[in-house]
Amino acid sequence: MFRTHTCGELKIDSVGKDVVLAGWVQRSRDLGGMTFIDLRDRYGITQLAFNVDQNPSLAQQAGKLGREYVIQVSGTVVERSSKNKNMPTGDIELVVDKLEILNAAKLPPFTIEDVTDGGDEIRMQYRYLDLRRNPVQEKLFLRHKVALETRNYLDKQGFLDVETPVLIKSTPEGARDFVVPSRMNQGLFYALPQSPQTFKQLLMVSGIDRYYQIVKCFRDEDLRADRQPEFTQIDCEMSFVEQNDILETFEGLIKHVFKKVKDIDFLEDFPRITYQEAMEKFGSDKPDMRFEMEFVDFTVMAQGKGFPVFDDAKSILAINVAGCADYTRKQLDELTEWVKRPQIGAKGLIYAKYNQDGTIKSSVDKFYDEAALKDWMIAAKAKPGDLLLLLCGELEKTRKQLGELRLYLADLLGLRNPSVFKPVWVTDFPLLEWDEDNKRFHAMHHPFTSPKPEDMGLIDTDPGKVRANAYDLAMNGVELGGGSIRIHDRELQSRMFDLLGFTKEEAQAQFGFLMTAFEYGAPPHGGLAFGLDRLVATLGGSESIRDYIAFPKNNSGKDTMIDAPSPISAEQLKELGVKLT
Ligand code: AMO
Repeated sequence: MFRTHTCGELKIDSVGKDVVLAGWVQRSRDLGGMTFIDLRDRYGITQLAFNVDQNPSLAQQAGKLGREYVIQVSGTVVERSSKNKNMPTGDIELVVDKLEILNAAKLPPFTIEDVTDGGDEIRMQYRYLDLRRNPVQEKLFLRHKVALETRNYLDKQGFLDVETPVLIKSTPEGARDFVVPSRMNQGLFYALPQSPQTFKQLLMVSGIDRYYQIVKCFRDEDLRADRQPEFTQIDCEMSFVEQNDILETFEGLIKHVFKKVKDIDFLEDFPRITYQEAMEKFGSDKPDMRFEMEFVDFTVMAQGKGFPVFDDAKSILAINVAGCADYTRKQLDELTEWVKRPQIGAKGLIYAKYNQDGTIKSSVDKFYDEAALKDWMIAAKAKPGDLLLLLCGELEKTRKQLGELRLYLADLLGLRNPSVFKPVWVTDFPLLEWDEDNKRFHAMHHPFTSPKPEDMGLIDTDPGKVRANAYDLAMNGVELGGGSIRIHDRELQSRMFDLLGFTKEEAQAQFGFLMTAFEYGAPPHGGLAFGLDRLVATLGGSESIRDYIAFPKNNSGKDTMIDAPSPISAEQLKELGVKLT
C-alpha cells in the first residue's frame, strides 16, 4: 500500500499507530538533535520527526531532502511535546523509521505555502505548483461543491443534463466569436459557442422540457476581473413557463447552493426591481444592495438659482453619504480628482455638508442660501452629520458616474463586506439598445428574447421603448446570471431580425434553422444562465474569477504556462487553406 493515511488525517487518537504517508516536503527544520519535516498533501500537513541519536543515517538523509521532494515514510504516531494549536494535526507527529524518495524536485520558483513570495506572473507560468497551495486548492473545492450542489438541485427539479456541440455557428451574445477553420471544408469556419443559446431552444422544440448543462462558453472580448475568454455557465432552459416560474426555480437554486455550501439561509424572497428603477436609484443594472446611498434627482430643485453649471445641465443627481459631514477639504478634493479621472469622466463634484450643529456648508454657498440647502437635505433625507455629493450632466452619463462614485465611497467606508450577500433580480430590461456609432439597434440581451406583450404596440412606432421579458440576477454588484422568455414564433423572430438590421437573406442564412424549427411546434419557453465562475468567486468573497479557475488566461488572453495562443506550422496552415497576412 502506498499510504495508509493522508497527511490531514492523523490526530491524537492515532497515537501509537504504525502508518505510511506519502506527499511533498513543504519545509524542513534542523534543530541539532532533531530534524523536522512538514509533509504535505491535498488533505493537510503532518510533521515528521527524525531523531539524530536514535537513527543518525536516516536523520542525515532527511536533512538533505529539498523542498517539494516527493517522499514516502513509515513510522509511529506520537503525541507532540510542544503542540501546534493552529494545525489540525498539531497534536501529533510521526517518528519516522523508513524514508523513500519517490521523486526529487528542482527548487520551485516560489515558496509553496499559504503565503507565497511568488508574483502573479510566475505563479501563472507554474500554475501546477501554485495549485499545490492550500488557499488555491480551497477555491477549487468550493467550485466543485457549487457545481455538485447545482447538479443535485437541478436533477431533483427534473432538469436533464444534455451536452451541446462546441464546433458550431455564431451565437450572437454581443461579443466576437472565436473561430476554427475547417480542413474538410476549406474556406469555411466553425465558431465556438458564446453560449449554447440556440441549441437549448432547439432542445425545447424537441420536448426535453427542462435542460441544463454546466458548459464552457467562449467570447473574444476585452478582459476584466470578472471576464475570461473561456468561462463556464450553468445554462438552463424550461418549457411551458412564465417569467415568474423561472425566477422562482433559479432563486431556489441559488438558495440551495448557499445553504449547502456556506450554510447561509436567505429567509426572504430576493427583491425584484425593474431595470428602470435600478438605473434611477443606483445608476447600474447590477446594483450592489449591501448599502443604500440611493440617487436623488435634484434637476428641478437645484436649477434656476443662478449657478450656471447646474442651470445648463440636463440632469443633477445627488447621493447622501451618511455620517461623512466631517470629510476634510483634502478628502473632498481627492474625491473631486477621482471623479474627474478619464475612466469616470465627470467635470466636477459639488458637496453640501450637513454639520452636526445643523448648519450647512457647501461648495456652492454663493448660489444657494441656507433655506435652499435645507431643502436639499430634506429631499435627500439627510441628517446632521451627513454629506451630500452631486454630479451633473447628460442623464445616462451622470448616472453611470454617480454609480461608480457610490461604489468607490462604499469601498472607502467599508460597506462592501464580502461575507454579506445581497441578491437582487433586475427585470424588464429594454429589448433593444441604440448603437450611436453604427446608427442601429442591438438586442440588449440577445435576439431571441421576447418583447413584453403589453409593449408590442411600440415595436413599429418606438422600438427603443419596448421592454423585454428579460431578467438578471445581481449579487453584491456582480451580474451572476441572466435570461429571458424567448420568442417561439417564426413571424415574431423574423420581425426581430428586421429590427436588428438583418436582411431577410442574412437572417435566413444565419438563423434559418431556428426559425424553421419554430414552424414545427415550438413550445413557449424561457431560461437563464449563471456564470459559474462569478457565482463561485462571489461565494468566495472575491471580485476576481481568475483564482477560481484551475488554468485561467491572463489579461491578454494568454496561457503563459502552455504558451497559448502560439503559431502553427506552414503545413497546418496549408492543410486548412489559411494564409496569414
Ligand atoms: P449572458 O451573456 O448574460 O447570457 O451570460 C450569462 C452569464 O454568464 C456570465 N458571463 C461571463 N463570465 C465570465 N467571463 C465572461 N466573459 C462572461 N460573459 C458572461 C455572467 C452572465 O450573467 N444565453 C444567455 C443566457 C440566456 O438567455 O439563457 C447568455 O449567455 O455571469
